[in-house]
Amino acid sequence: MNGDHASQEWVPLLVPDMPSPQVLMPWLERMHAARHYSNFGPLVRELESEFARRFDMPTDGLTTVSNATLGLELVLQALDLAPGSRVLLPAFTFVATATAVVRAGHVPVLADVDPDCWLLTPDMARAACSLTRVDAVLPVATFGMPHDMQAWQQFEQDTGLPVVIDAAAAYGSQWLRGAQGTLVFSLHTTKSLPAGEGGLVVSTRPGLAARVRQLSNFGINLDPRAGLPLGSLASMGTNAKMSEYHAAIGLASLQVWEAHAGRRLALQNDLMLEVDQVFGPGLVWQAPGTSGFQMAPTVLCPRLPDAAARLALEQACQAARITTRRWYQPLLQEMGVLRQRCMWLQTPNAQALAQTLLGLPFFLGLTLGQRLRLRDAIQSARCSEH
Ligand SMILES: Cc1ncc(COP(=O)(O)O)c(C=O)c1O
Repeated sequence: MNGDHASQEWVPLLVPDMPSPQVLMPWLERMHAARHYSNFGPLVRELESEFARRFDMPTDGLTTVSNATLGLELVLQALDLAPGSRVLLPAFTFVATATAVVRAGHVPVLADVDPDCWLLTPDMARAACSLTRVDAVLPVATFGMPHDMQAWQQFEQDTGLPVVIDAAAAYGSQWLRGAQGTLVFSLHTTKSLPAGEGGLVVSTRPGLAARVRQLSNFGINLDPRAGLPLGSLASMGTNAKMSEYHAAIGLASLQVWEAHAGRRLALQNDLMLEVDQVFGPGLVWQAPGTSGFQMAPTVLCPRLPDAAARLALEQACQAARITTRRWYQPLLQEMGVLRQRCMWLQTPNAQALAQTLLGLPFFLGLTLGQRLRLRDAIQSARCSEH
């Protein structure tokens, strides 16, 4: 083991997988030639057409937005729920899932997640609905793990409650596969289809994507058939449009998506085997849900046997200058700002996850030297535990 860590560079947790300026140049040239830099220009429309083709739906079933957080907020606004509606979401998620609900004027109701796939499942949502009033459900595709949309469509039919999937990390993994549903993706630089900043709303709900598009353009009416003067305000929107610059990055990323996703999957498989081998039994990985597994993983997040083992690995990584992250921790109800705005149910599985999960470095370009340092750190954590 190399004892001289002080002189080593930190191993980062993530390194964005963004197209180079050279690769972007043809799209940027097109943008500049058209003198169209935002406001649903040619590149945004081309990107939306590409998405429509991939999701096998008409372009009016989707819209780009400036990020997933605003995408979620605007979808909630477009659903026209009564102010103060209760929106069920998992306690184990990124803060933006909950802040979008609060900013849309509603109350997050935090629920538990499945102990194996780490998702809020339709059965868990049904159980939550039998305990308290719920007006809408916002499940999260945790770390990109896709949801079973047939099952959520059935849930919507049985309960009458609208369901919106926060699929921020799940581009390329979460599809509708013929089901009805609403999905919100992030195109942030750390996600599987990076555009720098960006988001995508996909919905089979009649008129929903068009409504979100209008809300993302201040709420201005651009429809001559709407019975309102063109350019007048139809509803209280915001500015959440995707710029042509971001669409250029999205189009360039889309061109290499399959190849990069394949490399990410292969790397994840290799690293999981490696970590398992060095750690030995007791380490657990996120299990696939009933709809399969991630197609383009962006994190490596093992679950340690207990909090002491997690702390030992964290400390060994820190000593070896390897960045780690307690993803989605503390839980939402443990953050003061959210606590006063949320309701929550019993969340034993989420609490157990919060004590034992640890994000490890994961990015294309992780070097052999960095992988060896991670192996050493895991080994040293195991020794310190015994
Ligand atoms: C579950 C979840 N929801 C929402 C977001 C927010 O996405 P964006 O950065 O595009 O606003 C993220 C970002 O990491 C996320 O992980």
